[in-house]
Amino acid sequence: MGNKTETILVTGGAGFIGTHLVDALLKKGYRVRVLDNLSLPTHDGNLPPWFPKGAEFIKGDVRMKDDWTRVLDGVDYIFHLAGYMDTHPDFSTYFSVNAFGTALLYEVITEKKLPIKKIIAASSQSVYGEGKYYCSNHGIEYPLMRDKDQLERGEWDIRCIIDNSLKRPLPEDEDDELHPSTPYGVSKLALEKIVLTLGEQYNIPSVILRYSIVHGPHQSFRHYYSGALRQFVAMALLGKDIAFHEDGMQLRDFVHVRDVVTAHLLVMRSDQSDFQTFNVGSGEPTKIIDLAKTVAEVAHVPFQQATQTYFRFGSPRNAFMKISKLRKLGWDPQHSLQDNVRDYIDWVKQYPEAKKYFHDALK
Ligand SMILES: NC(=O)c1ccc[n+]([C@@H]2O[C@H](COP(=O)([O-])OP(=O)(O)OC[C@H]3O[C@@H](n4cnc5c(N)ncnc54)[C@H](O)[C@@H]3O)[C@@H](O)[C@H]2O)c1
Repeated sequence: MGNKTETILVTGGAGFIGTHLVDALLKKGYRVRVLDNLSLPTHDGNLPPWFPKGAEFIKGDVRMKDDWTRVLDGVDYIFHLAGYMDTHPDFSTYFSVNAFGTALLYEVITEKKLPIKKIIAASSQSVYGEGKYYCSNHGIEYPLMRDKDQLERGEWDIRCIIDNSLKRPLPEDEDDELHPSTPYGVSKLALEKIVLTLGEQYNIPSVILRYSIVHGPHQSFRHYYSGALRQFVAMALLGKDIAFHEDGMQLRDFVHVRDVVTAHLLVMRSDQSDFQTFNVGSGEPTKIIDLAKTVAEVAHVPFQQATQTYFRFGSPRNAFMKISKLRKLGWDPQHSLQDNVRDYIDWVKQYPEAKKYFHDALK
């Protein structure tokens, strides 16, 4: 059980991952405070019905120094999950929320000399960009993002620029080179540098968790970026053919939100995690087409693949993680791809209004 005298701040605690984390912390007996601005596109300005009872909610913005000052009073641990993620071209918002907001947190802590025990910050697999590949003739390579011309020709795979041979994708390792290729990814890399640099300089134990693609109940119906699972479920429940990007053979890493929560609880209590970065993924690459087939199977609809081909510029061909570093600390993900899909579909079915959002999003 947690220490009832300890107060935990969860920024972004009204969001998808945040609400699960808040639930788990309350169950462990901690006092939990949430800072969240209930922003679009995740929210409509109101707390979601599944926001955990028992948590103290403070509406505020991580870009406002006064809001940080207000919420940090008496706090022991901070889970910093508030973030802006999408594919919209309002580039500066990624940096104002994800980077500037994080720097303000450390500014207020150092100015006020607050005795914070640890900060655990949410980063993302997007910092790896296209990641690491193996070329049988040239060894390890970090290829650039595929350009638009290549994608328009429907040439999806990553090939060696010298001999055009197919390269083999390798799992992303915490020590890999980082080449983010989206404003979101670059802003998360900035967040990581801020957290680890200021954490070490001012001796504030700080940890980075790089999540892969997180799945589970509470994923906002409205949020386009909440990814392939939401889109495939929307298509399946609305009786549409399932459309995916590229040829569906690209690899992704889907981790269940409950496994992500146990990773947070573990690093919070482990001194070995201080000033470290950990991947939080499933440890299993999954082809996108297999996710689509699993959705059809769990939703009891025939799997029909749409004929149109889409792609999203800036999206890596493959992205999956090595999770041995966190495993060494004692963490082991417990949920399968089927669990992810079943738990999400079961949850969506409790909210008939989800179909309306799905319908609008697909349009
Ligand atoms: N869901 C994933 O697959 C995934 C993958 C990698 C990283 N992440 C990171 O995990 C964190 C949580 O993501 P999520 O999936 O729960 O998203 P989410 O959108 O459901 O939750 C984010 C929360 O942050 C709040 N927020 C946004 N801007 C804010 C601001 N300026 N001030 C205060 N609150 C603000 C939102 O209102 C929302 O409640 C984010 O930092 C995200 O970048 C998520």
